[in-house]
Amino acid sequence: MHPWFRTLTEEVRDRRLDVEGTVPAWLDGALVRNGPAHFETAAGRVNHWFDGLAMLRRFGFADGEVRYTNRFLRTAAYRSRVNGDVATTEFGTGPTSLLRRVGSLLMPTATDNANVTVARVAGRHVALTETPRMVAFDPERLVTFGERTFDDDLPGQWTAAHLERDRERAEQVGLTLRFGRESSYHVYRLPDGARSRTEIARIPVAEPAYVHSIGLTDRYAVVPAVPFTADPRRFLSPGVESFVDAFRWDGDRGTRFHLVDRADGSVETVTGPPFFFFHTVNAFERDGAAGREVVVDLVAFADASVVRALAFDRVEQGIRRATGELRRYRLPVGGGRVTSRPIADDVALPRTAPTVRRRPYRYAYAQRTGDGAATGLVKVDVTDGSETVWREHDCFAGEPVFVPRADASDDDGGDGRDGAGDERATEDDGVVLSVVLNRDRERSFLLVLDARTFGAEARAWLPHALPLGFHGEYLR
Ligand code: CO
Repeated sequence: MHPWFRTLTEEVRDRRLDVEGTVPAWLDGALVRNGPAHFETAAGRVNHWFDGLAMLRRFGFADGEVRYTNRFLRTAAYRSRVNGDVATTEFGTGPTSLLRRVGSLLMPTATDNANVTVARVAGRHVALTETPRMVAFDPERLVTFGERTFDDDLPGQWTAAHLERDRERAEQVGLTLRFGRESSYHVYRLPDGARSRTEIARIPVAEPAYVHSIGLTDRYAVVPAVPFTADPRRFLSPGVESFVDAFRWDGDRGTRFHLVDRADGSVETVTGPPFFFFHTVNAFERDGAAGREVVVDLVAFADASVVRALAFDRVEQGIRRATGELRRYRLPVGGGRVTSRPIADDVALPRTAPTVRRRPYRYAYAQRTGDGAATGLVKVDVTDGSETVWREHDCFAGEPVFVPRADASDDDGGDGRDGAGDERATEDDGVVLSVVLNRDRERSFLLVLDARTFGAEARAWLPHALPLGFHGEYLR
């Protein structure tokens, strides 16, 4: 098994890492990341890479030094897994007994294995996944505080793992999915520091689509409902043991883009060709030749086969297929034809500078996939498709996180905007951080790239090989 998918049990606290090169002295925050790191149960390996136990990883920067801490989230899923059982319904690994399966219909026992990302929600740092269970932790020591709940009754047994933060309006916008006799999407806002979500719009749907992230513009929340959908009755069907089993691809449906007006909750829907995606890159509004339009950039796949390709029986081949196309969709406001154009091929885990959220922008940073021997990093100029690539032999890079040099005066590492003149001029003035695995040495390092040139400024070596993580945030 590739060391990217091998269980790591060693936990390290506040260890100073050996640094090659020079870490910029202005870098004085911390990169906190999340991802699966433990893949065994008493019954064997979990079925799906997404079901590995959440491990937080922290890289603290001060005076050119890098200090490293990694720690499993202490959750119910962690305790039951360590005790040799899968007691909760996870993404691709389910309870095996029929009683348990019926008991987990619509997932009242949904997993608290929050292994996807980290965010500041309701005044706390939390780990998030696609079930509504979020787990609070201490961002310094990575100690688990415990489950954090919202103080509202917004329905939904499933959520988009990614929240979109709007710093100007001091709120986050997210999505829950309710499965039931009447299923629906619920787009909500969460004011910064509040514990209560407010529903912006409820969109009824017969078979909800799998939604991992949404788009956000100043006026709209954009929900791309791809044709990978679940009939809620299917959760009871034989053979459906985990969440993902209930979903089916039906390309004939096309993709429905719901444009939700953030002010009044009205919903417009335009339909385009079928595709699958996990991640939006950015979104904004503009006046096009045919009138007002919403632009949504995302990483698209031809279909949903990537989901099952990342199951463990084929994950090493699957990661090679988990290679999407950075694509721009133009959605006409008031109706019309959805159009798209490719910007870059072979990308995954896209990010932008925090200052260009909801604005026309120039650079996307992403994992460069599609090369069976390694994954690199790429900086894509979305205005002309030109690329700058970092790669090294036998090195596997994860999600790139851009950190602006200027102090964005954003205390939570969210999508802050610094308001310092031309925002686009700052979107590559800083560094890109990524955790890279050197397969030959079986050790990982934190890579610091100059965001402008993509030249390596420094690397800080970890004491072990860190399994591939999903997402992280830079906390100031
Ligand atoms: Co994600």
